[in-house]
Amino acid sequence: MPDTFTPCSVLVTGGAGFIGSNFIHHFLEGNPAARVVNLDLLTYAGNLENLKGVEADPRYSFIKGDVCDTDLVADTLRRERIDAVVHFAAESHVDRSIAGPEVFVRTNVLGTQVLLEESRKHWRAKGGDDFRFLQVSTDEVYGSLGPDGFFTESTPLAANSPYSASKAGADLLVRAYHETYGFPTLTTRCSNNYGPYQFPEKLIPLMIHNILSERPLPVYGDGLNVRDWLHVKDHSRAVETVLKRGVPGGVYNIGGNNERRNIDIVNLVCDLLDRKRGRAPGENRKLITFVADRPGHDRRYAIDASKMRSELGWEPSYTFAKGIEETVDWYLANQEWVRKVTSGAYRDYYEKMYGDRP
Ligand code: NAD
Ligand code: TYD
Repeated sequence: MPDTFTPCSVLVTGGAGFIGSNFIHHFLEGNPAARVVNLDLLTYAGNLENLKGVEADPRYSFIKGDVCDTDLVADTLRRERIDAVVHFAAESHVDRSIAGPEVFVRTNVLGTQVLLEESRKHWRAKGGDDFRFLQVSTDEVYGSLGPDGFFTESTPLAANSPYSASKAGADLLVRAYHETYGFPTLTTRCSNNYGPYQFPEKLIPLMIHNILSERPLPVYGDGLNVRDWLHVKDHSRAVETVLKRGVPGGVYNIGGNNERRNIDIVNLVCDLLDRKRGRAPGENRKLITFVADRPGHDRRYAIDASKMRSELGWEPSYTFAKGIEETVDWYLANQEWVRKVTSGAYRDYYEKMYGDRP
């Protein structure tokens, strides 16, 4: 399938986070003529350690700053001659949004509005040339499914957590900028990502981290909630595909065709680490602790990604067996990274949530 847009100078927001940093590695490798400017506030979730491999690349530059900073955003778009914005920057953790929703509205809604408005002005000033604004969103904006069915791009938005509500608010602004101003936006909604550089507050890296430090493995509620798991490298390729081939105004669901119950994921990670560390089978499962359910916990997410396949020719390539094994190996080989990112502010948060130190 042919590309319809060739980005030259891409502003990636939130590029020091989990998915943003994986995307930057992927994009620079496959697009030798393109430049990437990474705008990131370096919150607890942003780590320049994730970008060590590209720091010396003359096609890459980093700006520490806030997506809500109008002057900085306007100046960066102009000075760097940006022709595409890939917007990852967000507060991304549901449990944090329950504990304190305000920063989610500020970063996710206001930050997106500032980026949209300054990008629109920049695009107009360039004479309405080829430009793309890609909003990286989530399947969580669709709410929760029962045992059957899938989210499609036309499923109504029914966000249930402050996090997903803030993403849905941002998605509606993106839609409005396309409908009102003809601004060339794209929206992707993906399922749960996993892979290297994921902050160890999300399910899979938290379980790996806690097993390695012999701590309880907190499973919320009955452990039977279902998520669809997508390898971050497949997601990075999907975002690149939508950027180059997506139809402006379009929404694209991205999934891994890989539904799993939380308890099955936790058991699998336990067993993999038993094997890799030469422990007796079943040893790590003894750490599993069922804890109080997350308030408003969505029961099931499942994505119908057929539009990505039929219109843009994208499909996930990772099997879960390969992806999870590689991910566990990555965390085993990168304990120093884990130590660095879980120091400082993260310690205070963890202590408040779980009552002891990580
Ligand atoms: P993350 O929390 O790992 O990273 C977020 C990044 O944004 C960090 O580097 C942080 O420093 C930066 N940031 C936060 N506030 C900022 C601000 N005001 N200005 C500039 N930078 C700021 O998140 P992630 O898991 O990589 O998710 C990236 C995007 O993908 C988010 O928009 C998220 O909603 C979406 N998403 C994530 C998943 C997932 O499974 N992780 C699934 C679906 C969608
Ligand atoms: P999470 O990784 O926070 O992603 P999301 O809430 O965006 O889907 O959680 C994935 C699933 O795992 C979700 O159903 C909540 C559950 N969960 C636990 O059972 N224990 C935990 O410690 C965490 C962080 C999540």
